[in-house]
Amino acid sequence: MLNGKRILLIVAGGIAAFKSQEMIRLLRKRGASVRCVLTEAGARFVTPLSLQALTEDRVYSDMFSLTDESEMGHIQLSRDADLLVVAPATANLLARMAAGLADDLASTVLLATDKPVLAAPAMNVRMWTHAATTANVETLKKRGVAFVGPNDGVMACNEYGPGRMSEPEEIVAAIESLLAQDRPLAGRQALVTSGPTREAIDPVRYISNHSSGKQGHAIAAALARLGAEVTLVSGPVTVADPAGVKVLKIDSADEMLAACLQAGAVDVAVCAAAVADWKAAKPTLAKIKKKPGAAPPTLELAPNPDILATLSKPGSKRPKLVVGFAAETENLVANAIDKRKRKGCDWIVANDVSPATGTFGGERNTVHLVSAEGVEDWPTLAKDEVAERLVGRIADRLGRPRPAAAAE
Ligand code: CTP
Repeated sequence: MLNGKRILLIVAGGIAAFKSQEMIRLLRKRGASVRCVLTEAGARFVTPLSLQALTEDRVYSDMFSLTDESEMGHIQLSRDADLLVVAPATANLLARMAAGLADDLASTVLLATDKPVLAAPAMNVRMWTHAATTANVETLKKRGVAFVGPNDGVMACNEYGPGRMSEPEEIVAAIESLLAQDRPLAGRQALVTSGPTREAIDPVRYISNHSSGKQGHAIAAALARLGAEVTLVSGPVTVADPAGVKVLKIDSADEMLAACLQAGAVDVAVCAAAVADWKAAKPTLAKIKKKPGAAPPTLELAPNPDILATLSKPGSKRPKLVVGFAAETENLVANAIDKRKRKGCDWIVANDVSPATGTFGGERNTVHLVSAEGVEDWPTLAKDEVAERLVGRIADRLGRPRPAAAAE
């Protein structure tokens, strides 16, 4: 995704500066080149030498050394990049950016640039929630600065709350989404369901399944990278929320349906969730107790709504493209062909979820794409790659032709 892209990474002074080093590694792995500006305070947390080794480029810190004719000027430094990333963005640097100060190399480069800027804030929770920081962030957002994070969590100072810098993977995802050369799904709305559902039997017990949410979350992330505005309705999972995606967290199938309908009209819906087909007919408010000598209770089930079939119903609100999954343990393709017709969706991604395949919870998936045109067998791929490929196909179907292509 980032082949040939040039990132200017500004590392300010915060404990999170150590994460920038992993970020450089991830960016370079994706084909980007990275050049670093290290502030004076930043150099107290990471050394120029380590950044230099990771970027294979010199590290820029001193504004006045750049006034030398033989050096690259600060204007050049800021213009020779496709994107400026400030990570960690401290409260102090955000304040200086908002005020338009140019009192060191980092702030001068940020003031002189005509390139997009992404900031990954990192600071103590009270500093982040302070009215001054809130106002600075608002000002910067209005000027077009993009933000990723901060996340909630335990901080270096042992306080809990928002202020932790996003993880390197999340920042890289935000960079990819900002830099996606081709954003064929820009302006398109997408809805994705992911993960399992939980159906309460009583306040402590539930019916659920082994879905990890990895495939659905990867699809939501891939749609966002191609520019779509994505709502992800997710059951309880441990995978992280994808960057740049609106996440609605639910437990039961009924809640999942309500959240999907609340998302409103969309261009494409991808139902990757493993929705429980049945729920307890009469969940109890109190825990069901064992009665000495009594037979085990019988659990009466009631059907859950079929979200995929509901979204596929013909009508003016139907998404232009509805994609379902088929989780099968036998007669995979035949069942998927039948399921596509039964549910009324356009495509079905059929996958074998027999325990031997390791699909549920695993990293890889072997799928078949079933549509009205026929069945395509895809090779075994990482779930991320299945997502990329599927979203590429969605973009082929829904994306607007680029002007040059349209003119041909
Ligand atoms: N699905 C849904 N709502 C349900 C059940 C399933 O939206 N109540 C969706 C899933 O997200 C998936 C597709 O329907 O996209 C097929 O799910 P699957 O579990 O394979 O099929 P079922 O409908 O449950 O049918 P069966 O269990 O008989 O195979």
